[in-house]
Amino acid sequence: MRRKLIAGNWKMNNDLDDSLKLVEKFKSLSDKFDKDVDVLICPAFINLYPVKQSLEGYNIKIGAQNMHFEDYGAFTGEISPTMLKSIGIDYVIIGHSERRQYFNEVDETVNKKLKAAHIHGIIPIVCVGETLEQRESGIEKETVKNQIVKDFENVHASEAVKTVIAYEPIWAIGTGRTASSQQANEMASFIRNCVSEIYGTDISDKVIIQYGGSVKADNAGEILTQSDIDGALIGGASLKAEEFYKIINYAK
Ligand code: 13P
Repeated sequence: MRRKLIAGNWKMNNDLDDSLKLVEKFKSLSDKFDKDVDVLICPAFINLYPVKQSLEGYNIKIGAQNMHFEDYGAFTGEISPTMLKSIGIDYVIIGHSERRQYFNEVDETVNKKLKAAHIHGIIPIVCVGETLEQRESGIEKETVKNQIVKDFENVHASEAVKTVIAYEPIWAIGTGRTASSQQANEMASFIRNCVSEIYGTDISDKVIIQYGGSVKADNAGEILTQSDIDGALIGGASLKAEEFYKIINYAK
């Protein structure tokens, strides 16, 4: 049985004050969170530690939005897995489409980061997804498969099984245009098959596959009850405590 993972990607939003205020609101709601759901929030790097400290004793996990694959060195402006680990970070988002689009992230670096995360015991959430143009040309599955194959190259099965995959169609991110629950589930199931082709069904049956792209309280229930969707990676709606809470409690 796969546990659902509801994750908030705050992106480049919330300064320290706003981050702590939002966390206080989550804390006040947290005893009513669905206990069968894992909850994760991913603030900006600079706010990870204060948010982590504020959440001490609460069952809310903290993730980073990116990291470098090296442990240390002359990489000005970067943050390493050892740094994240040293402040107790549980998860890291890797290969988000915004990083691929604006910061030259490519599958080769996603692959290195995925391996580095596992070396340090941080759970990577690897993002894949097609552009609108690719979907309209009918190559969305080919595109996503290509990303999976490259991102998981030489990744051991014991690490693959602990990797979260987020299917985020680029055309649905921040646009208000959600993939239909059927489209999202079809791709999630296709992704599970890709994982099965590489690692077998023992592994693919256990891998957590999230959907991301304009998930809101009013569409979460339909998306999150699909057979192959094990959670959501949420941008905009994770910045509002009540809305995020409703998504976490979608089943109620
Ligand atoms: P939105 O929920 O704002 O569409 O963002 C999705 C996303 O990119 C999460 O990583």
